[in-house]
Amino acid sequence: MCGIVGYIGPQDATPFILNGLKRLEYRGYDSAGLAVLQDGEIKVRRDAGKLSRLAALVAEDPVHGNIGIGHTRWATHGEPNARNAHPHMGMTGDVVLVHNGIVENFLELRAELEDEGVEFKSETDTEVIVHLVERYLSSEDGLAEAARKALRHLRGAHGVVVMSRAEPDKIVAARIGNAGGVVIGLGEGETYVASDLPAILEHTRQMVFLESHQMASVTRDGVEVNTLDGEPFPFEVQNVPWDPISAEKGEYRHFMHKEIHEQVRSLTDTIAGRVDFEAGRIRLPDLNLTPALARRINKIFITACGTAAYAGMVGKVLIERIARVPVEVEIGSEFRYSDPIVRENDIVLAISQSGETADTLAAMEEGRSKGAKLWSIVNAIGSQAMRIADGFISMQTGPEIGVASTKAYTAPLVDLYMLAILLADLRGTIDDQARRSLVADLRFVPDLAGQCLDREAEVEEVAQTLVDVRHALYLGRGVNMPTAYEGALKLKEISYIHAEGYPAGEMKHGPIALIDSEMPVVVIAPRDPWYEKMFSQIEQAKARGGRVIAVATDGDELIPPVADQVIWVPETPWMLSPVTTVIPLQMLAYHIAALRGLDVDQPRNLAKSVTVE
Ligand code: AGP
Repeated sequence: MCGIVGYIGPQDATPFILNGLKRLEYRGYDSAGLAVLQDGEIKVRRDAGKLSRLAALVAEDPVHGNIGIGHTRWATHGEPNARNAHPHMGMTGDVVLVHNGIVENFLELRAELEDEGVEFKSETDTEVIVHLVERYLSSEDGLAEAARKALRHLRGAHGVVVMSRAEPDKIVAARIGNAGGVVIGLGEGETYVASDLPAILEHTRQMVFLESHQMASVTRDGVEVNTLDGEPFPFEVQNVPWDPISAEKGEYRHFMHKEIHEQVRSLTDTIAGRVDFEAGRIRLPDLNLTPALARRINKIFITACGTAAYAGMVGKVLIERIARVPVEVEIGSEFRYSDPIVRENDIVLAISQSGETADTLAAMEEGRSKGAKLWSIVNAIGSQAMRIADGFISMQTGPEIGVASTKAYTAPLVDLYMLAILLADLRGTIDDQARRSLVADLRFVPDLAGQCLDREAEVEEVAQTLVDVRHALYLGRGVNMPTAYEGALKLKEISYIHAEGYPAGEMKHGPIALIDSEMPVVVIAPRDPWYEKMFSQIEQAKARGGRVIAVATDGDELIPPVADQVIWVPETPWMLSPVTTVIPLQMLAYHIAALRGLDVDQPRNLAKSVTVE
């Protein structure tokens, strides 16, 4: 979850680093710092707190130079304070380093280094790395070789960027495992390093993504990539289409609000180029799915975390109903340690906006170790979950900056719907007419989303009546059961109101005891195959004095006389209804949190990409 930025070129590195770190704020952090090489000396500014504190430090005591590195830290070892903030220097002042990840064997390394006379200045695990680099630097190895030797001692996953006053024309960056990415941006006579694209997108779109166990030697003229064994690696330069403007808030107060309203565009983009409406067929070329493979598939394990896992739950209903392929949904943190029964013709399908979620990536590795083929549905281009998969579907939503996932929830719903149709088509388990009908329904999705967004004022009115509630229950069934989980997660993660998503049919097995006038119950009851059951759910809640907010389909005449409030959604084909039922719940959570004056884009304790366990 830490943010890393580096610069080398003709400009002053300091403003570049501060601006780049600001672009990474969404990742969540509790301290920040930078180091710049000025007149042959490494100057460090760092402190606990937000970037505004770091900017003030730099203003009080300026540093300027053409090479520098910066960091925003999300504390794992050692509390957030100036001493533990990155960058970290060794004892000689020759080397300075920033790090993302956890040195799992740092205690033994620290003891070994202390035996060599090293005096530690922080409680961090990171500091052992800079002393190891310094140990090898002094034995006549250059910075890259010293860093390579140092990194071989480390256990765990790491992103490391290091520079030395002995080599003022070079920054060295390395990646081990999945502790967040390391990307190198190639400019005109200048080169950038970052842990994520938004920090450098406004400067270049020519990117080199490091993979695990790779190291980059970065100069202002470009980059050389080697494996950690020292072998040259023939890297490719990728042109990333994300434009920096789309990563800005525009007229919106929060990224989340902007991204909710981008869903007409993002749903259009995730469909674009993948649907042949004439032939009534789906094309997902990056999945590398052949008819033979499609027919061989026994079972699909969908693995993900948080919101992405709820998208996977919708995917289970769609793939099983359309393609008749058994699907099991396993959250990443469980799947990775469950010694799962995965067989050769099984697929492990990961869903991840960032493509860097440690539990999801570890679940993918677990699946691969058991012989499964790996697929992924990912938003972040060049991320690990995209790179290690045998086939992938890009969500194509553009940057999602708000910590609370919105467009990166609805896009995979449609991607999973298209995957289900393609699987059924290749396995020959769907007739031409049924397939054409399902494909034709995709045409309406962006407009249906737009209709939901057009009703924001109605949702905001409901939000105003819920600003001071302390609890909420969200109920759904079937394809919209995950909608209840997702609606509840949106509310709790940005408004800090305790909210619980529940399978509606489970209410009578206990939770119905919670119902009273203080417990608002959001009931997701669109015109889908579970409608009648959901209607009776509303009656049950009302019979116990509950307060019901129903999500209902336009024209419904049974619900308004019973529910206390209704949030209307347009008539939607039921398999795509999770797209239209979730959008008002996104807006509901957003407006409640905004009315409560909370940090909607960076909720407390949360980060956009959870790259540690
Ligand atoms: C959702 O709003 C949260 N940000 C969180 O649950 C998120 O979905 C989860 O951490 C998975 O992230 P990923 O999609 O980047 O893997």
